[in-house]
Amino acid sequence: MDIAVVKETLEGEARVALVPDAVGKLVAAGHRVAVHPGAGLLAQFFDSEYEEAGASLDADVTDGADVVCSVQPMTPDRLRALAPGTATLSFLPALQNPDLVTAFRDAEVTAFSLELVPRISRAQAMDALSSQALVSGYRCAIVAAGLLRRFFPMNMTAAGTVQPAEVVVLGAGVAGLQAIATSKRLGAVVRAYDVRAAAAEEIRSVGAKAIELELESLEGKGGYAGEMNEDRAARQRDLLTPYIAAADVLITTAAVPGRQAPMLVTAEMVEQMKPGSVVVDLAAESGGNVEGSQPGSIVAIGDAQVWGGQNVPSQMPGPASRLLAQNVLNLLTLMSAEDGAFAPDFDDEIVDGACVTHAGEIHHQASRELIEGPAADEPATGVQA
Ligand code: NAI
Repeated sequence: MDIAVVKETLEGEARVALVPDAVGKLVAAGHRVAVHPGAGLLAQFFDSEYEEAGASLDADVTDGADVVCSVQPMTPDRLRALAPGTATLSFLPALQNPDLVTAFRDAEVTAFSLELVPRISRAQAMDALSSQALVSGYRCAIVAAGLLRRFFPMNMTAAGTVQPAEVVVLGAGVAGLQAIATSKRLGAVVRAYDVRAAAAEEIRSVGAKAIELELESLEGKGGYAGEMNEDRAARQRDLLTPYIAAADVLITTAAVPGRQAPMLVTAEMVEQMKPGSVVVDLAAESGGNVEGSQPGSIVAIGDAQVWGGQNVPSQMPGPASRLLAQNVLNLLTLMSAEDGAFAPDFDDEIVDGACVTHAGEIHHQASRELIEGPAADEPATGVQA
């Protein structure tokens, strides 16, 4: 198959969808890879490395491509340059971008979304949400340690004892567990809370204390969290307040798939934190776990500095791209026929699940219902944007 790697155009996006190592593997498997000059530059992957791996460098990289790989979805302008029938593989939060889904449909492009790859065991090596959450979680802990003007670890010295920092992490999914593990490695005392029942054991397994609240657990579909009603949200906030007030650092990573991030911490709760405290809100871009956090900025709330995450994996573009490229490589391999042709098998649940648009139609049922209304002959998903 002919694979294109485009240069990202979104401000602040430093990652690249395929790194030279992954290109080398695709070329060795008999595929042709064309890379836009400079596509990997912001992640420190150079054109010469892509050429050595067997790629061609081409400014019109999408011409004749079977599949166009990018980190961010193609914009409507760039889509117009693609021949009908071309496929794209990128992040594409379909339910949050109905206009873009419509543009993909109208361009007759077959769009595959990395977010929609089903989280089944067989797809773990293709799970870009997890690989990028690992980077985000690590980065959150490092940012917090950098902003906090005191030690994370305890130090017993001849000049006295330095007490360790107290870190609270809310949301213990992939990113939260990595933030916990990193904070622990830096020597902090870490407590964490998640609404899923299974999370307490996972929190303990990475060395933190699980915060146990007198609240029912909230399990949604597929091992994810469910949505809180306002009554539970208020009780959770009340019960968490003393833990947050006692913390030097609060890191929030809570998310509910397909929904705005739950608001877990009010400005009033942050105001109770000690002077010099640090809050890191990884969910700032999707609505925020912390009231008043701003994506891409640090704001003062009370005596705390509140850092709002914005495209956090892109802040470590090299390792984030390497991990992402492995996910992309595995997906491309899944969609490759024995003779090397691009041949996505829509009977495969990973291919079927990840496909947003195909042959001028919206393939992803929840997006189709959102944009075109429910079809008479299929049960509604009930999923909302
Ligand atoms: P996510 O990014 O959707 O959410 C992050 C965390 O926030 C989750 O642990 C969630 O329970 C928590 N959360 C949601 N609402 C909350 C609230 N009100 N208060 C506190 N915490 C709240 O989740 P992520 O990291 O993508 O994965 C979560 C789970 O998904 C995993 O633990 C696992 O069960 C499943 N998963 C499965 C995979 C697979 O089978 N391939 C791969 C990765 C995750």
